[in-house]
Amino acid sequence: MPVVTVSLADRSYPIVIEAGCLSRLGRLIAEHARPHGVLVVSNPAIADRYGEVVMGALDEAGIRASMTLVPAGDRAKSLRNAERVIDRAVAERLERSSAIVALGGGVIGDLAGFVAAIYLRGVSFIQVPTSLLAQVDASVGGKTAVNHRAGKNLVGCFHQPRLVVIDPCVLETLPKREVGAGLAEMVKHGVILDADYFARLERGMPRLRTLDRDELSEAIAGSCALKASVVAADERETGRRALLNYGHTFGHALETVTCYRRYKHGEAVALGMEMAAMLSRDLGLLSQEDALRQRQLLRAAGLPVAVKPGGQISVDRLLAAMEHDKKVARGRLRFVLATRIGAGVVADDIPIDAVRSVCRRFLESER
Ligand SMILES: NC(=O)c1ccc[n+]([C@@H]2O[C@H](COP(=O)([O-])OP(=O)(O)OC[C@H]3O[C@@H](n4cnc5c(N)ncnc54)[C@H](O)[C@@H]3O)[C@@H](O)[C@H]2O)c1
Ligand SMILES: [Zn+2]
Repeated sequence: MPVVTVSLADRSYPIVIEAGCLSRLGRLIAEHARPHGVLVVSNPAIADRYGEVVMGALDEAGIRASMTLVPAGDRAKSLRNAERVIDRAVAERLERSSAIVALGGGVIGDLAGFVAAIYLRGVSFIQVPTSLLAQVDASVGGKTAVNHRAGKNLVGCFHQPRLVVIDPCVLETLPKREVGAGLAEMVKHGVILDADYFARLERGMPRLRTLDRDELSEAIAGSCALKASVVAADERETGRRALLNYGHTFGHALETVTCYRRYKHGEAVALGMEMAAMLSRDLGLLSQEDALRQRQLLRAAGLPVAVKPGGQISVDRLLAAMEHDKKVARGRLRFVLATRIGAGVVADDIPIDAVRSVCRRFLESER
């Protein structure tokens, strides 16, 4: 059973990754957190599929548990829903020694984690991520958030989980595009942090796409280990953790101008990585060969590597979105650039003209 540890002194926690481990959730929680009562937060579709096994596993371990549901979709990450979950925690008489369990994708994880951080000034939090993106990215690292009408993730705090339980079998019911979105973040980990991991993804991609359990477990564990090492070195993103934003400045701009409808987050990140690679090439940091390897792996993952121009996407709108992004400093933009497969740098002083040139050529290019 692969276990990855996130090393944060007395707040260190394990990530358990094992096919079928959902049915042992109660025992795993009892081992690591010993909570007096838990509240499971989920959404209707996920609860329909996995609610029974989760509640059964908690019961079997003698843990008093109840479940509360919020609707699916990013809009569920709201202060209003946080308040509803808190209302339920109060009604269930959850105490400081109780725990909140997130059973779902990144939306549920971010919302439930936020409640766990603020209810009674903080209770134990357990992540049971069910989407690939949440398993390799959102559930590790302690960022919690809800959205505000002025922007995504505007309200939140850091609150590390006590335990992360990943069962790759639940991915069998995840829609294919959501699988691709998770693969994009895994490719990102390879490009920016680890050439061996990247090569492993190259070899394993066909098996990953058919959800081969062994390949998935290994690759998820690899991604979690990479994210864990970055989080351990820079929990609050004052330095190295910013590397994980590779592809995200361009990607967020694409999501913003298309009103979050055209692309899944991971698809926008895949396109953003292609644009970041082009910028890295322009600045003489990345070889053509490495840029091509990135593109081929994204293609092998079934991800888009080009945008159809027209509609809402234009150079000016992309630039405007990036200038509104929180990563802008004094007319220059902050970007994570790749220097080779397996390494990246954060650059604070990228001139807008270089970014404009990338947007223009990216929208024109056939790939
Ligand atoms: N905290 C962090 O560090 C962090 C990192 C990345 C993303 N996020 C956040 O995560 C969210 C995106 O997460 P996501 O991509 O998991 O989206 P999501 O939570 O909306 O899940 C995607 C869809 O898949 C469904 N689903 C999830 N698991 C399923 C399963 N096993 N079977 C069937 N359907 C399933 C969900 O109901 C949903 O409709 C965003 O809000 C983003 O801001 C947070
Ligand atoms: Zn992302």
